[in-house]
Amino acid sequence: MKASAPGKIILFGEHAVVYNRPALAVPVTQVHVDVEVLDSPRHGIWIHAPGIDLHSELNSLPADHPIGSVILKLFSTLGISSLPTLDITIASTIPVAAGLGSGAAVSVALIRALAQYLAHPLSNEKINDLVFEIEKLHHGTPSGIDNTVITYAQPVYFIKGQPMEIFKVGKPFTIVIGDTGIPAPTKESVSDLRRLWLRNTNHFEEIFNEIAQISLIARRSIESGKTELLGNLMDHNHSLLQDMTVSSPMLDGLVKTARNAGALGAKLSGSGRGGNMIALVDQPNAESVAGALISAGAKRTIITEVN
Ligand code: MEV
Repeated sequence: MKASAPGKIILFGEHAVVYNRPALAVPVTQVHVDVEVLDSPRHGIWIHAPGIDLHSELNSLPADHPIGSVILKLFSTLGISSLPTLDITIASTIPVAAGLGSGAAVSVALIRALAQYLAHPLSNEKINDLVFEIEKLHHGTPSGIDNTVITYAQPVYFIKGQPMEIFKVGKPFTIVIGDTGIPAPTKESVSDLRRLWLRNTNHFEEIFNEIAQISLIARRSIESGKTELLGNLMDHNHSLLQDMTVSSPMLDGLVKTARNAGALGAKLSGSGRGGNMIALVDQPNAESVAGALISAGAKRTIITEVN
């Protein structure tokens, strides 16, 4: 039994989404997690994740191991007490700790493959709820946007605590993703921002309101195919993220490089400090913007079409 899950980027509204403002995220299918579950000739549940050099039996993993805890959580949800014998292989092309949702994608693909193998296929809604529970264990107070966009693998308009909405893309557009190569620990930037918000609530609430407007206008622009409006919205969102202290010299440098190389707009994407930035480009310019980002120190780039 096989299942996959894509990576993701946040187009607009990261961080503000933790404070109940809307955000937009899209799947990135160029990178993905693929899980295969097979009957094992050996006793036990064997997990092979060559990318992180893991070849272990479930019981030998620490109780809080991210992969082990996903499997145990699923078994307890399904009411399975006698453990089957399994060989589980997890292969991922999503860079880890880069803001592309690698942890959530492992959880989604693993739960989907295992549930199908055990003849208990789960709805996307159920998978999403389970992965959100797991995300809370590892990331403190996540909004839930990452697990949602990865589970549904469609563009989502997300407000915390409300049913997510899938939105239509009126005209496809091209995004270049540039990875700083610097880890982006979501938990830290989210909790730093909370401290600042507690000290200066009015100031940050104003910023979040401005971002909410950006997300609303961006959704309408994308749905109506007016993608040329998105560049300025990205630039504006990036300057507000700078005000929120979640950018970094490297992210600012790559954003500037992308704009100088002809991108229509650019911003950091995800939790910031490290991780990724994104740039909106005319499709024929994508390779040259990606090349400029690499020359400016990006560790890797991904060109993705949002459609
Ligand atoms: C991380 O991908 C997005 C943040 O807004 C955190 C969250 O929404 O949980 C920074």
